Amino acid sequence: MPNGADDCVQLGPQGWTSCQSGEHVAVYGPVHGQIIGKVHAFSREEVDQAIGRLQEGFQSWKRMLLTERAQLLHQWADKLEANRAELAELLMLEIAKNHRDSLDEVQRSADFIHYTAEEGLRLAGETLFGDAFPGQTRQKVSIVGRVPLGVVLAIPPFNYPINLAVTKIAPALMGGNVVVLKPPTQGAIAGLNITRLAYEAGIPDNVIIAITGSGRVIGDYLISHPRVNMINFTGSTQTGQHIASKAIMVPLLLELGGKDAAIVLADANIERARDNIVSGAFSYSGQRCTAVKRVLVVEEIADQLATAVAQKVMTLSVGAPEADSVVTPLISNEAADFVWDMIHEAVAQGAVALTPLRREGNLIYPVVLDFVTRDMRVAWEEPFGPVLPIIRIHDAEEGVELANASEYGLQGAIFTQDVSQAFLLAEELDVGTVQINGKTSRGPDHFPFVGTKASGMGAQGVRYSLLAMTRLKSTVLNL
Ligand code: G3H
Repeated sequence: MPNGADDCVQLGPQGWTSCQSGEHVAVYGPVHGQIIGKVHAFSREEVDQAIGRLQEGFQSWKRMLLTERAQLLHQWADKLEANRAELAELLMLEIAKNHRDSLDEVQRSADFIHYTAEEGLRLAGETLFGDAFPGQTRQKVSIVGRVPLGVVLAIPPFNYPINLAVTKIAPALMGGNVVVLKPPTQGAIAGLNITRLAYEAGIPDNVIIAITGSGRVIGDYLISHPRVNMINFTGSTQTGQHIASKAIMVPLLLELGGKDAAIVLADANIERARDNIVSGAFSYSGQRCTAVKRVLVVEEIADQLATAVAQKVMTLSVGAPEADSVVTPLISNEAADFVWDMIHEAVAQGAVALTPLRREGNLIYPVVLDFVTRDMRVAWEEPFGPVLPIIRIHDAEEGVELANASEYGLQGAIFTQDVSQAFLLAEELDVGTVQINGKTSRGPDHFPFVGTKASGMGAQGVRYSLLAMTRLKSTVLNL
């Protein structure tokens, strides 16, 4: 797999080639800040050519038997599994995800593809008879089926460049669509490699095309392209809102930011809350949309929980992805600056750091901030880094109020042994998913994954993504 700093690579129908034009985008590795590869920068003309080829491919792909499409997807998943180690190496290099999580990301992606291939076979339509409506007869029959949308633009983020590409591509393909994959710059080499593996698995090279390049040159061009029929994006709320403003009359599936709160009540199992909060907040250094980003704990147990969390955080491994460290360098220096400033601002306003404040370049050691208050930025903004604010509350109602006051509405967690109370509180939380006695997270991937408010639009998850990437079509028989 190409990952050398010298050659610019391009993926074409014949496999890897050197870049044809001098335009390229450099991919920097977060660990040493060095260029780890170069990828071709598509021009707008090349984007048009690629979409033209996809439109040709669509004509035969949408007519292919479902069982044949499913078979090709299974073969693609098998290829990912067979190349799991190499793909994991790329993730460590490109995005500094630790070895175990990188391997998991590839396996999870293969599992997702297999499941989608199966689920796609079972997307049945329905038959409606006219006489169910007043004044109509049984001589009118609607056969309702699902048809593809056309060209789907899949834009995954840097934090899951394989998995969040696959969760877009597999349902799109199974639904009969063709796909433009626009990988993130850090993650582009992984994105090209999974596309190459799709070709090796037998998926035609005019059914999925990876378009790499500068967002500045082709970003807006792609999202407002008249021949793109649907956009599935995961990334920041700011970019999601920009896409929504540019993409006119195109269905959108958006997974955006979050500020997930873990509400901990007095009767919670403290060890369970601690373990879920720490792994929820700090895995992949907090660079997950579903990371636990606030703890809202009632006063009675706040000292106990804060101490337990801080002690556990102090045991987290920090360092290189190859060493399987939990906390690794953040994706860029700019990202680290953003997190670092937010931490220092909170401390200046009176928050108490329960762990040492330590930074080496873009590696920030995990930070627990106690006594965070509503006037601090860290109480509301998404750091996308290893910092966990603890806010003390009087009761569950204040927890719900504070959780709902966020602009985001991705997930929330409630820790209590009173499941009835948890259920009642869950009803009040304005989020896509509530976890009772568990950390906030997306999977299992056949569950619905939904964001309210600034956290997104539409529902993902195997079946939900298949539905979102197909539309109803009614054929009416007049007997
Ligand atoms: O970053 C956004 C991802 O969808 C989060 O997925 O909960 O499996 O880490 P995860």
